[in-house]
Amino acid sequence: MRIKKAVIPAAGLGVRFLPATKAVPKEMLPIVDKPTIQYIIEEAICSGIEDILIVTSRYKKAIEDHFDRFVSLEDHLRGKGKLDLLQIVEETGAMAEIHYVRQGVPNGLGHAVYCARRFVGGEPFAVLLGDDIVRSPVPCLKQMIDLYEEVQATIIGVKEVPQTEVNKYGILDAEPVREKVCRIRDLVEKPAPDAAPSRLAIMGRYIIEPEIFNILSHTEPGAGGEIQLTDALKELARQKDMYGLNFDGIRYDVGDKLGYLKATVEFALERSDLEQPFRDYLTGLLCSTGT
Ligand code: G1P
Repeated sequence: MRIKKAVIPAAGLGVRFLPATKAVPKEMLPIVDKPTIQYIIEEAICSGIEDILIVTSRYKKAIEDHFDRFVSLEDHLRGKGKLDLLQIVEETGAMAEIHYVRQGVPNGLGHAVYCARRFVGGEPFAVLLGDDIVRSPVPCLKQMIDLYEEVQATIIGVKEVPQTEVNKYGILDAEPVREKVCRIRDLVEKPAPDAAPSRLAIMGRYIIEPEIFNILSHTEPGAGGEIQLTDALKELARQKDMYGLNFDGIRYDVGDKLGYLKATVEFALERSDLEQPFRDYLTGLLCSTGT
C-alpha cells in the first residue's frame, strides 16, 4: 500500500526554548527564515505525502495561520511589485492538504499519535517529529518509503548515538539484515546507558502500520509518566516484522539549543544568497577569537 498520509505531532510546550516559546510555538522558530515545521512539511511533500495531519494544542494557532492563505498580505505585496515575496507567501498557503486535530491534554507522543486514528483509518502512515530535521540529498522519509515498498512493514529511522546519549532516545535491540537495514527485536524508551541494548537511536521518523492504534488504546504511561510511542511499537514488534533504517543524511535536534544553532549555521551556509558573506563573517569571527 502506498504511504500517502503523515502525522506531525506539534502539541508540546517547548519548555527547552523558554522564554522564546512562551508566546510562539517552538515549531514556528525559524531556521534562517523558515519555521522549523515548514522543513518537516517540505520533507513530507517531497517524499510523496498527500495529506498531513498536524496534532496541535491550544497555544499553536500560529501554525495554522502560517499554512493558511493571507490575502491582504498577498494584495499588499502584489501592489508593491514584490513578486518574489508574493510567491513565497502564496506557496506557504498552498503547500499540501494540511489538517489539524488538537491534543487537549499533554499525555505524551503515543497519545498524540493516537489522536490521529480517525485521520489515518486503516492505512500505514508516516510520523515525523518536529524536533528532528534531516538534511539529505534524498528526503529521509522518501528513503524510508522506498524500504517500506520493499518490505511492507513498520520502519523506524535511526542513527547511532554515543553511549552517553542513549538516555535521550528510544533505543533498538536489532540484528543487521544488510547495510543500513536491521530487523527490530525490541525497543526501549530512554534507557540508562548501562541498560541500553544498542546505540541505535530512534530519530523522529516512522512509517507505522495501523495496528498501532489498537495497541495505543491500552498503552500505559511509561518513561516520564507519558504514553510513549516506543512502548506501543515494542508491542507491535512482538506481533509483526519491524525494521530500522539508518538513513543517509545529517539529523539536527532543533528542540535543543546547540542543535538549533548547528542547523541554523549549516542551513545558512547552503543558501546561495547568504553563503559567501556568512562564511566570511564566520572566518573573521574565528580569527578574531584566535581559534
Ligand atoms: C521522542 C521519542 C524518542 C525518540 C526522540 C527523537 O523523544 O520518544 O523515542 O528517540 O523523540 O527525537 P523526545 O525527544 O520527544 O523526548
